[in-house]
Amino acid sequence: MKRILTYGTFDVLHYGHINLLKRAKALGDYLIVGLSTDNFNNIKNKKSYYSFYQRKLILESIRYVDLVIPEESWEQKIHDIKFYKADIFVMGDDWEGKFDFLSKQCDIIYLPRTPEISSTQTRVYINEYIANINLYK
Ligand code: CTP
Repeated sequence: MKRILTYGTFDVLHYGHINLLKRAKALGDYLIVGLSTDNFNNIKNKKSYYSFYQRKLILESIRYVDLVIPEESWEQKIHDIKFYKADIFVMGDDWEGKFDFLSKQCDIIYLPRTPEISSTQTRVYINEYIANINLYK
């Protein structure tokens, strides 16, 4: 049983997230997602549209995801790898090199990010779309 661990905010879920989760799961048998809590997002200066519980509900219904755990701090990764017996730590390559310090605990893989899509961009598009609708009301 090969266990994979990844982290993120996964707000307004999009096909870039699905691509990442699908490829992460294909590396092993059991995929654990550390999902940033709303409080941790504040620490990272991120603001999600959906709350932690809404994002968790969505992630848990994806076939590639076996378990969702809260990500509450930068420091927890080292403990999570041990506790969940992770064999591989996966992140998109926007994080390339940032987690190499965990390589004594398990394998580290940075997967290529899907181009031209992000939660931030999606929120901008939705806001622009709503603004345009209101313009023509
Ligand atoms: N990811 C990806 N391809 C994308 C967007 C995200 O592979 N186009 C990956 C990230 O590299 C990360 C995971 O999905 O490993 C969760 O990323 P997250 O930060 O939640 O998504 P973003 O869309 O990048 O969000 P934001 O715009 O808030 O940075």
